[in-house]
Amino acid sequence: MERTLILLKPDCFERRLVGEIISRFENKGLNIVAMKLIQVTPELSKQHYAEHAEKPFYPSLEEFITSAPVVALALEGLEAISVVRDMLGATNGLKAAPGTIRGDFSSSRQMNLVHASDSLESAARELKLYFGEDDFCDSSPVL
Ligand code: CMP
Repeated sequence: MERTLILLKPDCFERRLVGEIISRFENKGLNIVAMKLIQVTPELSKQHYAEHAEKPFYPSLEEFITSAPVVALALEGLEAISVVRDMLGATNGLKAAPGTIRGDFSSSRQMNLVHASDSLESAARELKLYFGEDDFCDSSPVL
């Protein structure tokens, strides 16, 4: 089993797509093992997006990710990291395939609704930014 960090970003919250997108993950059979609604600070944004900090788009990304609450989720499942990344589709919503979350709901590279960890190492690092050990509940698979 793998655990991965998901952020339902400010555009997801403001467009009231939180339930719709969580439903997709539940329907796929992924288990929610931790969840919280938080306001990302500039400091947390810099930690989370450390690998992008020097990129030209970073200032705009920080402004966006701190603009409204995000829902942080820890999802657990077999091959959860790649399963979720496949469900999201390409980073740029304009290029994302129909049927994927971004392909169905986003036409933007920045406002692409959902972040998901891209590797086991990223997942371990990112989960610690948003959750403490006490935040996790035992997964209870129904499938
Ligand atoms: P995410 O999967 O959260 O990882 C980094 C984020 O930066 C990405 O989703 C987009 O929201 C944003 N991003 C990536 N590339 C660009 C870009 N070229 N211009 C603006 N935002 C970008």
